[in-house]
Amino acid sequence: MKYLYIETVGCQMNLLDSEMVVASLRKHGYELVPEPTAADTILFNTCSVRQHAEDKVYSALGRLRRHKEKFPQKIIGVMGCMAQKDQRLIFERAPYVDIVVGPGQLAQIPELVAKAEQGQREQLVVSLGRRDGSAAEIRRSHETFDPLRDPSMRPTPFQAYLRIQIGCDKFCTYCIVPMTRGPEQGRPPEQIIAEARVLADQGCKEITLLGQTVNSYRYTAGGQTTRLADLLGALHDIDGLERLKFVTNYPKDMTTELLTAVRDLPKCSPYLHVPAQSGSNAVLERMKRGYTVEDYRDMMSRIHETLPHAAISSDFIVGFCGETEEDFEATVALVRECRFKNSFIFKYSVRPGTRGAELFRDDVPEEVKKRRNNELLAVQNQISLEENERFLGQTVDVLIEGPSKTAEKEAGESEVLQLIGRTHDDRIVVFDGNRRQIGQTLPIALYDCNSHTLFGAVVTDHVGPELHGLSLGV
Ligand code: SAH
Ligand code: SF4
Ligand code: F3S
Repeated sequence: MKYLYIETVGCQMNLLDSEMVVASLRKHGYELVPEPTAADTILFNTCSVRQHAEDKVYSALGRLRRHKEKFPQKIIGVMGCMAQKDQRLIFERAPYVDIVVGPGQLAQIPELVAKAEQGQREQLVVSLGRRDGSAAEIRRSHETFDPLRDPSMRPTPFQAYLRIQIGCDKFCTYCIVPMTRGPEQGRPPEQIIAEARVLADQGCKEITLLGQTVNSYRYTAGGQTTRLADLLGALHDIDGLERLKFVTNYPKDMTTELLTAVRDLPKCSPYLHVPAQSGSNAVLERMKRGYTVEDYRDMMSRIHETLPHAAISSDFIVGFCGETEEDFEATVALVRECRFKNSFIFKYSVRPGTRGAELFRDDVPEEVKKRRNNELLAVQNQISLEENERFLGQTVDVLIEGPSKTAEKEAGESEVLQLIGRTHDDRIVVFDGNRRQIGQTLPIALYDCNSHTLFGAVVTDHVGPELHGLSLGV
């Protein structure tokens, strides 16, 4: 038996990649351990979307320097987006790293680990850069890695991510993803459907389809083009699945056909994550997002027309190059107007290798970014709270995921404990329940909330005639 430690930062794509890598190394006799020091092989699945995500990994590597000196036979590998972006630089900054492997070569990890065990040093396997070959060569150099599923690595046994698309061709000027994940490529629908069947057979109730711009998904073969709406239709027929979600959406590709599919297919969650990034046209243009605030508004009204009860969430970047106070106020206004369920808010982080880094100066001071971040977050939190309050007194169906964070910390074995789950429209609900309810979808009556969480109680419909008789008899 050999031991594996894996640490994952970044988006859902990376979580899914880690699940696949663990599954493939398990096949080669590896077992997971919770501490790097207990492992024979230590892997970091990395993210380059912001500087902070990279810093975290470089410091974690720094902390392992001594350990590797003491135990030189241990294998340290860096995989994922930062591996693709930094390549040899990783060996320069941390010369004791054995393997650097990009997100397009994850299938090779067992082989690379085996070679490292035999003493091969500084193995580098990455995809071609976006200007380093013909379109077909570049596409081919980014391989998806999907067939192996490992239920134990999932968020819960009842929920799974399913990749339908890799890469991105939007080239927003701030963003490194098109460079690290390569060209946009849809997976063949037969593969996706077959994988969903496997997941459903494993007891999975909720599948979240993944793509950087998931609603741009298309796959053409034999003269026939499959789009996301068609895929949802096909997945909807799979028995056992209860909920279908998909992230992340690109505003320009939010077609009426897709919205109608979500409306007409009850398993599709009435939840859309569709990042706006900014409320200022000048900023959106510099970001090269390909839409105006007016376009985004139009999209919102189309969503509301077709899906009046859908929850919408967004991402925003504050302090992008040249963002003035008026630009920022326009973003605040958009958040107030759209009343998102929640928004992820980020301070702009300049990414070498992007068009933004070449074209514009990162001229908004850090304190200003911080203030705008806090201000926007406060506005969003107030809206999230008000939106949650509208649910108080209602009963909602909750897919129960497991013990709440509080219950996990207490780590007792008690049958009665605080549980956490989600509504169909992706709201977090916390309530007292019983361990055996985990994995079920149950009605929860909501009585309290904050901006992130709804609090409720399981509805027991056993208020039968006996009980009424009793109260009448008194
Ligand atoms: N493909 C997704 C998002 C990928 S990255 C989409 O297009 O919506 C997730 C989020 O990180 C982005 O939505 C954006 O808000 C943020 N982000 C990306 N690059 C960034 C950068 N250089 N600095 C700060 N935030 C960034
Ligand atoms: Fe990055 Fe834009 Fe592609 Fe999203 S759509 S991954 S923000 S380039
Ligand atoms: Fe990060 Fe790569 Fe995802 S840069 S956000 S891990 S696609």
